[in-house]
Amino acid sequence: MDAIWIEGNRTLSGEVTVQGSKNAALPVLAATLLVPGVTRLLNCPEISDVSCMCEILRHMGARVERRGKEVTVDASELTGCRILPEHAVRMRSSVILAGALLGRCREAFFFQPGGCVIGDRPIDMHLWALGRLGVFFSGREGEIRAQALRLRGAFVRLPFPSVGVTQNAVLAAVGAEGTTRLTNCAREPEIGALCRFLRGAGADVREEGGGEIRVEGGRPLHASTFWIDADRIVAGTYLAGVLAAGGKAFLRQAPWYELKAALKAARRMGAVVRTESHGLYVERTGRLLSPGELVTGVYPAFPTDLQSPFLAAMCLAEGKSSIRERIFNGRFGVAGQLNRMGADIRIGGDRAFVPGGRRLSGCRVAAGELRGGAALTVAGLCAQGRTVVENCHFIRRGYEDIVRDLKELGADIGNETEVPPDEGRQV
Ligand code: EPU
Repeated sequence: MDAIWIEGNRTLSGEVTVQGSKNAALPVLAATLLVPGVTRLLNCPEISDVSCMCEILRHMGARVERRGKEVTVDASELTGCRILPEHAVRMRSSVILAGALLGRCREAFFFQPGGCVIGDRPIDMHLWALGRLGVFFSGREGEIRAQALRLRGAFVRLPFPSVGVTQNAVLAAVGAEGTTRLTNCAREPEIGALCRFLRGAGADVREEGGGEIRVEGGRPLHASTFWIDADRIVAGTYLAGVLAAGGKAFLRQAPWYELKAALKAARRMGAVVRTESHGLYVERTGRLLSPGELVTGVYPAFPTDLQSPFLAAMCLAEGKSSIRERIFNGRFGVAGQLNRMGADIRIGGDRAFVPGGRRLSGCRVAAGELRGGAALTVAGLCAQGRTVVENCHFIRRGYEDIVRDLKELGADIGNETEVPPDEGRQV
């Protein structure tokens, strides 16, 4: 059974190491297609999205080996540039393979990508930005064919600082002739990780500050080894877990310097937060307070990927609070499941209103997407009785093993297969 159970209402205590970042690993894996040689990635998270990306790279002819957290990609010879529809529907970031394939082979076939259901996720800006570099598009039966007889550098001012569009444009620009100047780029830490990887492999990619990236294309790329930094969203999820359940935890390797907006919110909610050279200490032993309104936005604002885990914690806080979601237009799907646990959240436009002060009751709930699934697990930590979160394959897209990690923090949690069958039926 694809479910996690949690016996709630007990405080957390312990230490856990934060895994490598999903949203850094996926674009770097896509970028390996630009390198006619061997790339070694260390600390690559053992999640299903990485498995899917490795499968896609193999389909392109790359030789991919995965041993635990080490992934080796030999893209010396590619045999194809077609992303299959079954891969595209599984993962949104498959779209950024287009930039890498165009940079390497001048051609890419792909489909409108899938990914988590968190609102409309068009790819118009991706196509527009690639078009600025000389790419032409045609299509048949849902498949998009992108082709560039000459891929050439250009000035591209993004209409919105989209993470994926910035990555796609940088990848194509690395393989293009001449200079590309990208402005109004996303500034999320994962953009920096991609640029560092590309520089280490020989590309001339300069982050000029102020959302500007300059790429001198056409440099020969070579073999390299790259370390994937810790995942700020996983760290933020466990921070939300401590807020909700109470207790103390040390999150080893947590990149607290990338989490300033979330730490500010946690302090407002009554947590003591101490940043250390090798991680983040968080303690919530007193009352849990309302943070007021949290507003998501592009980095360094409060991250949209953390709004659901924080929403779960806010259900218990003293006083009313709200979240305004400004990145995706359908990211409150988890509210319905939290309401089944007694949260009473009301959605109005781009806002979620949380009355607070609720004692959640454990019941059977179902994850509808990755961060919503993580949020239900956080809710289970502080609910009365047993919560069972179904559809946990969504959680495994981005969390190596949320059960293992929360057990290390002292939670009473397990995979449903570990529960004696008659106990499981009592839920
Ligand atoms: N958008 C368009 N047209 C486009 C591209 C984007 O309208 O062509 C819109 C989107 O619909 C959205 C906004 O622009 O409303 C921002 O989207 P963005 O392109 O920045 O997001 P993304 O690249 O698709 C990445 C992360 C997401 C994270 C967002 C925002 C990866 C693989 N995904 O998505 O991560 O929420 O940036 O930070 O890096 C997650 O990890 O759970 C997750 C969804």
